[in-house]
Parts: sequence; structure tokens; C-alpha cells
Amino acid sequence: MPERPYVIDTLISAKSIAARIEELGRDIRTEFADTDKLIVVGLLRGSFVFIADLVRELDLPVEVDFLEASSYGDGMETSREVRILKDLRGAIEGRDVLVVEDIVDTGFTLAHVTRLLLSRKPAKLRTIALLDKPSRREVDIRADWIGFEIPDEFVVGYGIDFAQRNRNLPFIGKVRFTDA
Ligand code: PRP
Repeated sequence: MPERPYVIDTLISAKSIAARIEELGRDIRTEFADTDKLIVVGLLRGSFVFIADLVRELDLPVEVDFLEASSYGDGMETSREVRILKDLRGAIEGRDVLVVEDIVDTGFTLAHVTRLLLSRKPAKLRTIALLDKPSRREVDIRADWIGFEIPDEFVVGYGIDFAQRNRNLPFIGKVRFTDA
């Protein structure tokens, strides 16, 4: 299929993202102030930029691990299957875990990952998402911390791709097709 021409308009600037992450970092430092067993788990691939900036706001002893999940629709959105493509390197039993998502859309990914990690008996599990699109939700789930609530726009940048491109943009943009 030929690529449709598009431009990217800024939705959230790099400066706004940095300011919000500073606030979120404060909240998370408070939540995990008393622990020396925190593991921050990034969901690949979209969260790689967010987790890099977020952990640098945490003046805490923290370990970092990654998990990759992929969801497959079969035409019926509500029967979405989430598969683990890459599991954590380490065990999380008895540990404090913070799951880091770039965006919560339908909620299937976060719901599945949360359920899976809870079955491994962490001492505490919390979730954070940079972006939340509540209007798209199909599973009743919300991250414990959210950077920005956004409308149902086609977003890219700051880790989020469009056909695997644009993850390296330092801001969150929205795609606007110019042939429409
Ligand atoms: C995207 C995003 C979230 C998930 C959110 O990942 O990074 O993980 O979808 O969607 P949901 O709430 O509807 O489940 P994607 O599968 O595109 O992989 P990527 O992170 O590697 O880009």
C-alpha cells in the first residue's frame, strides 16, 4: 500500500513533557520513598523514551527491566489477545514494581500485563502512562498516574511510532494526512 502523505503537528511540546515528568517523578519518589526494592518495568517498545526520562527523576535505588507485549485483533476488538514477546529478565516476587506505558488506548495491554505481573506476587504494583485516551477504552482500567489525557488523535513521537517511524521525535505530535 503506498504511503499516504502526512505532516505532524505538535500536540504536547518537549518542554511540557519535561515539566510533567518532573511532577510525576515527585509523586513516584513519595510513593516509593521507603523501599530499596523497586523495579521499574518499561513496556517495549513505545515506553523507551518515557522510562529513560522518568527514572532520571527518581532519586531512589531502582532497577530497570523491560517486557514486550503485542496485541492481536481478530476483527473483533473485544476479543483482543495479548501475547508476551519478551519477558522480564528478573523475578518480581516480593518486589515493588512500577509498570511504565507510553499510552493506554483500549486498555487491553495494560490490563493483561497487570494481571500477569500480579500473578507473580509483587509486594506492590503501580502503573504509570504518559498518555491516556479514555475515549477509546474497552477494558475498565486506569493507570495510577497519567501524564496527559488526550483526545482520540493519531499520536506519534517521544517513543510512539507510525509504521515504526517517528519514535525519535522529542515531542508528542499528531498525524495529519494531507491528501484527505
Ligand atoms: C501500543 C502502546 C501500548 C499499547 C496500548 O503498543 O505502546 O503498549 O499499544 O494499546 P491498548 O491500550 O489498546 O492495548 P504497540 O502494540 O503499538 O507496540 P509498540 O509499543 O512496540 O509500538
